[in-house]
Amino acid sequence: MDDVSLDAGRALNIDPIPSQGLHEHRQQRELADESASDSLYRFWLFSPPKPTEAATTPETDSALEQSYNDKIRELLNAKLTHGSVTNMSYVQLRDGHKMPVLALGTALLDPRLAKHIVASAIDLGFRAIDTAFIYGTEKEVGEGIRAKIQDGTVKREELFIMSKLWSTFHKPELVEPACRASLAALGLEYFDLFMIHNPMSFKEGNDPLPKIANVLQFSSYEYLDAWFAMEGLVSKGLVRSVGVSNFNSEQVARVVEKGRLKPVVDQVECHPYMSQQRLSEFCDARDVRLSCFGTLGSKGTPAELKASQAAAIDDPLVQVMAAGLGITPAQLLIRYQIECGHNVVVKASSAAHQWDVLRALGASLAPAQVAALHALNGNKRAFTFKG
Ligand SMILES: NC(=O)c1ccc[n+]([C@@H]2O[C@H](COP(=O)([O-])OP(=O)(O)OC[C@H]3O[C@@H](n4cnc5c(N)ncnc54)[C@H](OP(=O)(O)O)[C@@H]3O)[C@@H](O)[C@H]2O)c1
Repeated sequence: MDDVSLDAGRALNIDPIPSQGLHEHRQQRELADESASDSLYRFWLFSPPKPTEAATTPETDSALEQSYNDKIRELLNAKLTHGSVTNMSYVQLRDGHKMPVLALGTALLDPRLAKHIVASAIDLGFRAIDTAFIYGTEKEVGEGIRAKIQDGTVKREELFIMSKLWSTFHKPELVEPACRASLAALGLEYFDLFMIHNPMSFKEGNDPLPKIANVLQFSSYEYLDAWFAMEGLVSKGLVRSVGVSNFNSEQVARVVEKGRLKPVVDQVECHPYMSQQRLSEFCDARDVRLSCFGTLGSKGTPAELKASQAAAIDDPLVQVMAAGLGITPAQLLIRYQIECGHNVVVKASSAAHQWDVLRALGASLAPAQVAALHALNGNKRAFTFKG
C-alpha cells in the first residue's frame, strides 16, 4: 500500500486487521483508503433532490423547457460556433493501443442532455468517452456516440470508449454478462478499455450498494477473481484493453504480479491537492498509465457526495498562474496532468466548456510550473466514500 493510502487509513482510525475475517476486513480497509468512488452517483441519480412546489408551476415548467431547448441548441451548434480541434495527442499503452489524452466524463450528466453533450464533444474533437454502468447514462451516451458514427463525423475505430465493471459483478461468472449488458446499453460491439471500477467487491445482487442495517455487504470474491475473468473479455473481442480504477499501489502490484494480462491504466482522482506523484511513479515503473478524474475539482458533484475542500479550479495559485499564461484555470489543470503523462477525464456539459477543455491541447507548462502545482499537494481527496 502506498503511503498516501496508509495516511488515509490512519486518519480514519482503522484498527489492526484481526486474523479472522481478514478478507472482509481488508475490503473494508480498502474501502476507507480508496475513498475515491463515485458509486454514490447512482443513488443521487435515483433520488435527486425533490422539486420544490415553486419548481412545478406551469411558468417554471415552461422556463425549464426553454432552458433545456437553449442548452440543446448550443450543443447542436457547437462546431459551427467554435470549430473543431485536430491536434489530439495520445498516451501510448503497454499493449500497443493508444489512448487520447482527453476524455469526456459522463457521470452525473443530465439524461435529457447526455446524448447531445456526447455528440457535441465528438463534433468539437473529443475522441475518448468515459462511461460506467453505475453512472446510469449508458443508453443516452450510446445514442450520442452512434449518432456521430452514423452521420460520418467519426468512425468507431477513431473513438476510444472506456467503461467500468461495477463492484457487485466481481464474481467471475458475472463479469462477461456485465460487460455485455453495458455494451448492449450503449449499442456498441466492444470497449477500447474496460476497468475494474473499484478494488472493493460488494455482495452480488440488484442493489449496487448492498446494505443490511446500513452496513455494506461484501462479496466472497475479490478484485483478482474479477481480473482473471476480465482477461477472457480480451480474447473474446469484447474489450481491447483492461485496466483498474481507484487501485492503490499495493493493489496495482498484485494485479501486475498475478495477472496474465497487466492493467494498462489505473483511473484515480488526481489534481494539485491530490497529485498522486508517488502512485504515478509507481505505475510508470510498471508501464501502467494514470487516467485522472476530478481534475478540475468536481464542482458539479453534489456537496453530500464529496469532501468540503475547495475545488482546485478556485485555488489562488491556479488562478494567478493561468492568468499569467493567458489560459483558463481549467486549461492549466488539464495541461498539468498531460505534462505528467496522464490521461484526463473531464465532465464538461456545455459546448463552451468542452471547447475550453480541448484548447488545453495547445497549451504548455514549464517544469517549474508543474513543480509549483505539485507543491499544492496535501493528499486531499474530494471524493470520500461514505458507503
Ligand atoms: N473512476 C471513478 O471512480 C470516477 C470517479 C469520479 C469521476 N469519474 C469520471 O471523471 C469524470 C469527471 O469527474 P468530475 O465531474 O468529478 O470532475 P471534474 O471534471 O473535475 O469537474 C467537472 C466540473 O467542472 C466543470 N467544468 C468543465 N469544464 C470546465 C471549464 N472549461 N471551465 C470551468 N469549469 C468546467 C463542469 O461543469 P459543466 O458540467 O457545467 O460543464 C463540472 O461542474 C466523471 O464524469 C466520470 O466520467 C470517475
